[in-house]
This record gives sequence, structure tokens and C-alpha cells, in this order.
Amino acid sequence: MKQYNYDVCVIGGAGHVGAPLAIVLADRGMRTLICDINEEAMDILSKGEMPFTEEGGKTMLRGVLDRKVLGFTPNIKDISNIPVLILTIGTPIDEFHNPVFSLLTRCIDSMIPFLSDEQTIILRSTVAPGATEYLDRYLKSLGKKTRIAFCPERVVQGKAIEEIQTLPQIISGTTPAAVRIAGDIFRRIAPEIVEATPKEAEFAKLICNAYRYIQFAATNQLYMMVESAGLNYNELLLKMKTGYPRMESIPGPGFAAGPCLMKDTMQLFAFEKQNFILGQVAMTINEGLPNFIVERLSRKYDLSQKRIGILGMAFKAESDDIRDSLSYKLGKILRFMGATIHYSDEYVKDTTFISKEELVRQSDIVIIGVPHNAYKTFLFPDAVEVIDMWNMPNTKKI
Ligand SMILES: NC(=O)c1ccc[n+]([C@@H]2O[C@H](COP(=O)([O-])OP(=O)(O)OC[C@H]3O[C@@H](n4cnc5c(N)ncnc54)[C@H](O)[C@@H]3O)[C@@H](O)[C@H]2O)c1
Repeated sequence: MKQYNYDVCVIGGAGHVGAPLAIVLADRGMRTLICDINEEAMDILSKGEMPFTEEGGKTMLRGVLDRKVLGFTPNIKDISNIPVLILTIGTPIDEFHNPVFSLLTRCIDSMIPFLSDEQTIILRSTVAPGATEYLDRYLKSLGKKTRIAFCPERVVQGKAIEEIQTLPQIISGTTPAAVRIAGDIFRRIAPEIVEATPKEAEFAKLICNAYRYIQFAATNQLYMMVESAGLNYNELLLKMKTGYPRMESIPGPGFAAGPCLMKDTMQLFAFEKQNFILGQVAMTINEGLPNFIVERLSRKYDLSQKRIGILGMAFKAESDDIRDSLSYKLGKILRFMGATIHYSDEYVKDTTFISKEELVRQSDIVIIGVPHNAYKTFLFPDAVEVIDMWNMPNTKKI
């Protein structure tokens, strides 16, 4: 029988999806190799530190490093002879909101010289419906019989370590053998396996994010309507929800952004040949929220005379991830209006940022970009106007 040095390789394994998965796989006893082009992130991981915030990541990482079941390589040739290859590289959209599939195909192309018919590729990056079958045909056209599975990641960023081990895992593949092998891997970490066809699994992943994005857009649109009518939307939400279960699931208002929600909605939009109107409208609403805030402020003040601080630059609370964060868009619009802008964040490391105490001292108006926990107990001086869509307990409702 063939002897392997590793059971599984996670390609893109130093990223937000790949690293937690690689750590959990290694923790469950699979000898795991991380292959990534980001050598800096791999270096941080190899020293027992997480390159980004991930609950429980550091402890588990240090455990698997001590047990020597997690390795690192920047060389794609090291994938040869590893039976299972899990792909978690990014699948962004371009400036016209079209999916950029070429990153994935370029990565697959770089793998081809090292692929054998005994290996299985598990695609975990979020892809458009039909992409798994496309890759299967592509490999076959090159004479490769490498098996292809698609097993989407549906965890919440920052809580991946916990959710990988507690959420059901959808698995699919282009052959029964691919499904069986993917199932064998994920049965070791997930409590439940749900089998689907590749296209079902691709849709499932995209719909989970698009639906959430639409829910945020619904509440954000209502927020803008109610606030424009001079009422406080969060107070209204509380009144509407009291003793009324059918309203329980409506989310609160706030910036809905980040690396997945809009991108995945736009993947469906592109797939539906631009007819996924609900998704397009959701994007217009969510991306328009910073403009709404600026518009309201500019009616009240000459913004060129104002110093404005944005508290919270990550795309969501308790995260250090700034990808597609709407706080930056808000800052850009305000700067365009002539305002003096300061940024602060509890987790994002940026030498141009100032502390929250300093930000409050240097601002006439503070806008909460994202409600990190540290802001919920912060004492805002009365002299500063605080714009808080998130309904934090310590801000005056204006
Ligand atoms: N971030 C999330 O919460 C989340 C959740 C579910 C699904 N997803 C999906 O997972 C995928 C990855 O997202 P992410 O947030 O982890 O992205 P990321 O940018 O954090 O990670 C991607 C990693 O892939 C590496 N990479 C890129 N090209 C490579 C190559 N050719 N060879 C080796 N490594 C390469 C990058 O260096 C990076 O470390 C995307 O398709 C995304 O939509 C993300």
C-alpha cells in the first residue's frame, strides 16, 4: 500500500476559510499540509499565531503544531501524492460585479502537472452554479481522471473553528467515489452530512449568503424610510417585535458588507444573466446606506467645517477583516464632502488609525461603523454627536 506523508492538503490554507479548516482537520488526526502563496501568513501560523481573529484558533493551532500534524509549503508541487486536496482560494468579483473565475482556473492549472488519477480535489471556494462540473470536464479534457467534489463552507467568519464542528456539511461530487471520499473527510469533523448534487450544493451556498444579504437590505431600506420620517427605527423594531413572533427574525439595521454577502449575491446575479433583480436591489440598498448617513448629516451641517470620526473599520463586529467594509466607503464620501476624517478600530492594525479616546477628542461627530463590544461600554462625551444605527446601549438616541 502507498505511504503518504500527508492525508490532506488545503490549498489556500492560510486564508480565512482554509486556515480554520486545516487546523480542525489536523486536530481530528489528519496529517494536514497547508499550501499557500501567502508566505507571511504561513509564517505567522507556523509560529502558533493566527493571522486574523478566529475564536479558539490559537489554542487548537498550537495543539496541532505540538503534535506535528500540520505542515506548510508555498510549493504547489508538494501536492503530488497527497490523496485529498481541498481548495479554499478566493473567488472574488471584479469592478463590474462579475465573478473572477480565472484565479481558480489558474490555481488548477498550476496543480495539473502534479495531479494523479488517485487524487480527489474538494472544491470549497464559493463558485457559480455549474463550476464544479466545468472543472471536471476541464480536467478530463487534459486527460486527468482526478475526482472532483464540491463541499461548501457555510460558517460565520470568526467562529469557523466552532461552526465547522457543529454545522451540517453539504457534500457533493461528480462521481459516487468523489462523494464517498469527501464524505469520509467531513464525517470526521462535522456532526451531519447532507448529500446534494454539485449544482444543488453550489446554489445552496450562494443562496444562504444572498438570502441573508436580502434580509439585511430589507431592514436597511425600512430603517432609511422610518428615520427619514423622523422616527427612531430601532425603537420601532422593539415595539413591533414585542410579543409578536412573526417579526422575531427581522435583523437590526447596519452596514452589510464583507467578503462574501455581496459577492455571492452578485455571483447569482451574473448566473441569472442579470435578472436576479432582488439581489441587485439588495446591493443598491446596502451599498447606499453610507450615502444615506452622509446625506442626512449634510442637510444638518456644512461638512467641510466638521471633524468626523469613524469608530469601527472592520466589516463586522469583533473582526479585524476590512475586506469590502462600508466604513471605508463612508469615510471616502465624507472626505469628498470636505470633512476632516479620523478612523479607529479595536482589532484592525493600521498605523494611521487613532485610539477611540483620541478619536472622540478630535471629532465633532462620531459615526459607529461597526459595533465592537468595546464601544458598548465606552463613555461618549456629551459634546460629541454620535451616529449609531446599531442601537448600542450607551449612545443617546437622536
Ligand atoms: N470568509 C468567509 O467567511 C467565507 C465563508 C464561506 C466561504 N468563503 C469562500 O471561501 C473562499 C476563500 O475565502 P477567504 O475569505 O478564505 O479568502 P482569503 O483571501 O482569506 O483566503 C484565500 C487564500 O488563498 C490563497 N491563494 C490564492 N491563490 C492561491 C494559489 N494559487 N495557490 C495557493 N494559495 C492561494 C491566498 O494567499 C489566501 O491565503 C472564497 O471563495 C469565499 O467566497 C468565505
